[in-house]
Amino acid sequence: MDLKYLILMIAFATIEINVTESRQNDKRRWKSDKSVYSQYVNICDIQDRGSKVHCYCESTKLKTATKADCWVFNGGIAEDDPFWSNFYSQPKIERLTFNVRADGGLTYIPAKVIIRLEKLQYFNIHYANISSVPPFAFTNSSTLREISLPKNKITKLERMSFAHLILLANVSLMENQISELERDVFYMLPNLQRLYLSKNTISVLHEGCFKHLNNLVKLELDSNLLTVVIRENFQGLSNLITLDMRNNKLTMIGDLAFSELWALQELYLDGNEIEFISERGFGGLAQLRKLYLADNKLGTLDAGVLDDFQKLTVLDLRNNNLETLKQETMQSVLENMKSNYALISLDGNKLTCDCRLLWLHKLKNETRSKRVKASLERLSCIMDLKLKTDLGKKKNDIPKNPTSTHDYDNDEFDDDKYDETMQDDTVGNKVEYRKRLLEISTDMLPCHNKLSYEASYSPPTQDEVKYYYSASSNVVAAMTVHISIFVSIAL
Ligand SMILES: *[C@@H]1O[C@H](CO)[C@@H](O)[C@H](O)[C@H]1NC(C)=O
Ligand SMILES: *[C@@H]1O[C@H](CO)[C@@H](O)[C@H](O)[C@H]1NC(C)=O
Ligand SMILES: *[C@@H]1O[C@H](CO)[C@@H](O)[C@H](O)[C@H]1NC(C)=O
Repeated sequence: MDLKYLILMIAFATIEINVTESRQNDKRRWKSDKSVYSQYVNICDIQDRGSKVHCYCESTKLKTATKADCWVFNGGIAEDDPFWSNFYSQPKIERLTFNVRADGGLTYIPAKVIIRLEKLQYFNIHYANISSVPPFAFTNSSTLREISLPKNKITKLERMSFAHLILLANVSLMENQISELERDVFYMLPNLQRLYLSKNTISVLHEGCFKHLNNLVKLELDSNLLTVVIRENFQGLSNLITLDMRNNKLTMIGDLAFSELWALQELYLDGNEIEFISERGFGGLAQLRKLYLADNKLGTLDAGVLDDFQKLTVLDLRNNNLETLKQETMQSVLENMKSNYALISLDGNKLTCDCRLLWLHKLKNETRSKRVKASLERLSCIMDLKLKTDLGKKKNDIPKNPTSTHDYDNDEFDDDKYDETMQDDTVGNKVEYRKRLLEISTDMLPCHNKLSYEASYSPPTQDEVKYYYSASSNVVAAMTVHISIFVSIAL
C-alpha cells in the first residue's frame, strides 16, 4: 500500500474517534445538566397557584430567560425558604425585578437569588418593606451594574451595605425613609457613577460619607431635610459633575461649603430657605457652569460671591427677595453671560428700578444669547413714586398677558407663573408700581445715592403736580409743604 494512503486512513480514523468522543461528551453534559436543573421549578413557568412568587420572563424555556419580572404576594416568603433555589432554573437572567404586593411583605434583600444568578446586571425591588440594608447585602457580586430600590421603606443603610461591587455604576434609593448617611455605607465601588437619594428624610450627612466614591459624576440629594452643608460632607467627590440639593431646608451657605467638588459643573440649590451666602460660599468651584438658586430667600448677593466662577453661563435667581443685583457682583461672569447659551433669570424678586440695574440694559444689547435677551425683556422692577410720576404713566403699565418671547432651549424655566408678579402687587397698603426694566430709558433710571437729594431740590414736573392734585387732599397738603420748602431752599 502506498504510504500516502496509509496516512490518510489513519487521519480519517482519528477524526471519527474524535467525533464519537465529543458526541458522548455532549450527551453526558446534557444528562448532568438535566439532572441538576430538573430538580428546580422553572421560575418563568410556575404552575402552582399557591406560589408566593410569580415571574414573567421574555422566554419561558429552561435556562433561556434574560429578563424576569417577579411578583411577591400571598403573605410573603421567608429569607431561607427553599423556593429561592428555583432561580437556578434560569441562570441567564440579566435583569431581575421584584414588585412586592401590599400583602407581600418582602422585608429583606434576597441575597440568595443574587448569588445564584451569575449574569445578573440589573436588580430592582419596588414596594417592599425593607427597613435596613445589611452589610454586603449584594454578596460582592462582580456582575451587578445597576441596583434600584425605590419605595421600599428603607430607614437604615448599614456600613458596607453597598460594598465590593466592582461593576456597579448606578444606585437608586429614591423615595425611602433614610434619615442619615454614615461613613463607609458605600465602599469599594470603583465604578459607581450615579447615586440617587432623592425623596428621603436625610438630615445628617456624616463626615466622609461619600469618601470612597471618587468616580461619582451625579449625586441627587433633592427633597430631603438637610439644613447645613459643609465641606466635609463631600470629601472624595473629586469627579462629581452634578449635585442636586433642591428642596431641602438649607438656610445659608458657609465658606467653602462645596470646595471639595473641584469638577462640579451643575449645582442645584432651588427651593431651599437660603437667606445668606458667605463671600467664599462658592469658593473653589472654578468649573461650575450652571447655578440654580431659585425659590430661596436671598435678600442680597454680596460682591465676591460669584468671583471664583470662570465658566458660569447659567444663573437662576428667580423668586428671591433681591432688591438689586450690582454689576460688581456679576463682574467675573458678565462676559460669559454674553455667550450664545447663557441664561440669567431674575424674575420674581423685589428689584428696585434705579441705576444699579443699568448694566442689564447694556447686557441686553451686548449678549448673543436669545434666552438672556428674552429674560431681560420680561424683567420688571419696582418704581418709587417719584420715578413713576416722572415717567408719567398709568399704574397698569404692564400688560396682563405680556407677549414674552419665550425662547428657551428647554423647559427648565416656566415663565408663565411669573406673569402674576408683573401686575401691581399690593404689599400691606402700599401699592408696588412695576414696570419692565428695559422700557425705562437709561437716563430715567435714578441713582440711589442722589435720589433723595435730587428729589427735594428739583422742581416738581407738570405730571407730578397733576398726579398729586388728583390724589387725596392730604397728599395735596403735603405737596404744598414740600413745594414751599423747595422754594425757601432755592431762595
Ligand atoms: C414593615 O416591617 C416592619 C418590621 O420590619 C413592621 O413593623 C411593619 O409593620 C411592616 N409594615 C408593613 C406595611 O408591612
Ligand atoms: C465580601 O468581600 C469582603 C472583602 O473581601 C469580605 O470581608 C466579605 O465577607 C465578603 N462578603 C460576602 C457576603 O461575600
Ligand atoms: C445608569 O443611568 C444612566 C442614566 O439613567 C443610564 O444612561 C446608564 O445607562 C445607566 N448605566 C447602567 C450601567 O445601568
